[in-house]
Amino acid sequence: MESPVQANYKSKSQFRCVGCGSTASDTGTAFRCPACGELLEIYPHWSEASQPAALIELWRQRRASGMPLDQSGVWRFREVLPQEIGAAEVVTLREGNTPLYALPRCAVSAGVERLLAKHQGMNPTGSFKDTGMTVAASVAKQQGFRWVACASTGNTSASMAAYAARAGMRSLVLVPQGKISWGKLSQALDYGALTCELQTDFDGCMGVLNEVVERMPVYLLNSVNPYRIEGQKTAAFELMEQLNWQVPDHVIVPGGNLGNSSALGKAFFEMKQLGLIPALPKISIIQAEGANPLVRTMRETGGKRLIAVHPETMASAIRIGNPASWKKAVRVLEGTGGTVEQVSEAEIALAKAEIGADGIGCEPASAVTLAGLKKLVKQGFVKRSESIVLILTGHLLKDPDFTLKFHRGDLFPAGDPQASGLAKAQRGPVVLEATTDAVIRVLEDADSQSQV
Ligand code: F0G
Repeated sequence: MESPVQANYKSKSQFRCVGCGSTASDTGTAFRCPACGELLEIYPHWSEASQPAALIELWRQRRASGMPLDQSGVWRFREVLPQEIGAAEVVTLREGNTPLYALPRCAVSAGVERLLAKHQGMNPTGSFKDTGMTVAASVAKQQGFRWVACASTGNTSASMAAYAARAGMRSLVLVPQGKISWGKLSQALDYGALTCELQTDFDGCMGVLNEVVERMPVYLLNSVNPYRIEGQKTAAFELMEQLNWQVPDHVIVPGGNLGNSSALGKAFFEMKQLGLIPALPKISIIQAEGANPLVRTMRETGGKRLIAVHPETMASAIRIGNPASWKKAVRVLEGTGGTVEQVSEAEIALAKAEIGADGIGCEPASAVTLAGLKKLVKQGFVKRSESIVLILTGHLLKDPDFTLKFHRGDLFPAGDPQASGLAKAQRGPVVLEATTDAVIRVLEDADSQSQV
C-alpha cells in the first residue's frame, strides 16, 4: 500500500540550527551549526496536506505484518522518519512496541486517580536508547562507516554496541570509570565494543570523544546526532496510538543529556502539525537534585543560559552536568507549558521501590518521574483527576546493585537522616534455618501484616 504522504517527501533530510535557525544540508562530524556551534535538528519534511486518518490506519495495519521493518515499533512509523535511509540498510532488533502499564499503587502514593507508565525499558537492550539507535546506526551503515562511537552513562553504550554488532560495524565506547552499572558495562563488553573506562565523568568522556571524532573516521552516536532524536520520537507516536490518539494532560520524563525530552517534545509538535492530535500534553522534565543543570537553568536564567553543574547522584544514568540538548529541552518546556523539578536521592529510591511494588520495576533514573510527579501534585501543577503518563526509560535489571542495596538497607550510610522514611518500602531477604516450620512462621507473620 502506498504511503499517503510518501509523494511529498524530499529525499534527503534538511537540518536546522536550534540556536541561530540557519539551515544546512550536511551535518558535519559533530552535528553542530558551522555558524554558531549549536546543535542541528532535522526539520519536518511532509506536506501540510497529509491525511492523519490515513496515517493512523496505515500504522495500525502494519502491526499485523510479518516484515521486519513493520515489526519494529520505530520503522512502523517511517513516514515521520528521515527518508534517505534505504530499507536494505535498516539495522533493527524489533525495537519499540513497548507496553503502556497502569500503576495503581503508585497512583495512590502520588495522590492521583490514574497513572500510566510507558516502559521504554522493555526495548531489546533494556532502555529507550534502542529506538534512536536503530535509525542512527542505519545511517552510519549506509554511509559506510567502519567505526561508531559514543560517550555514555551506560545505556547508550549498551544499545550502540548491539546495533553496531548487528550491522557488522566496530564500536568505541567511552564511559566514566566506576560510575556506570555493571549490567550496562557487561552489555557493551558482550556485544563486542572496544570499551574504554576514562577517569572522568560523562561530560569529560563527551569532551574527549568530540576531539576523537574530529581526528578519526568514526561516526558519533550520542544524542547530539539528530537521527537518534528522530528514532526516539516514535515512542510518542506509539504512546498516542496506545491512547487511541487521546492526548494526556501530562507526560513526565527524566532529564540527563536531554535528548529524550527533546525527542518526545518534537514528536508532539509534529503530531499537532500533522493533525494527528488537537493539543499538546504538558511535558515536564525531572532531574536528580545533585545533577540538576536544567532545573537551575530554568530557575536562575529563565532558560536563557545553561548553568552546568558538577553532577552527583546514585541514579548513574542521569549523572550529567553539562547537557548537550539543553536548548532543545527548553523549547519543549516552553512550547508545551511543562515544568522542571528536582528530587532527592531518598525520593528516587522510594519511588523506584513503589514502581517495583506495582510489579513493573525500572532503573533509578526512571524513578525520578514518579518522585517528581509527587512534588508536582503537591504544588498543584498536576491535578488529581488529570491524565498522566510517566516515561520509564530503563529496565529494573540494568542496575541490580542499587535495588539490592536499597532492600537490604545499605543504600545510605547507617543513621543517615535521609533514609529514615524508607524502611516501609524495604523488602530485604529473610535468612532462615532450612525448616518447613521456619518458612511457615514467616509466611503467617507476613500474611497478618499484609494490607492487601
Ligand atoms: N534514563 C535512563 C535510563 C538513561 O540511560 C538516560 C540517559 C536518561 C534517562 C536521560 O535521558 O540523556 O536523553 O536526557 N542515558 C545516557 C546514556 C546519557 O549514556 O546512556 P537523556
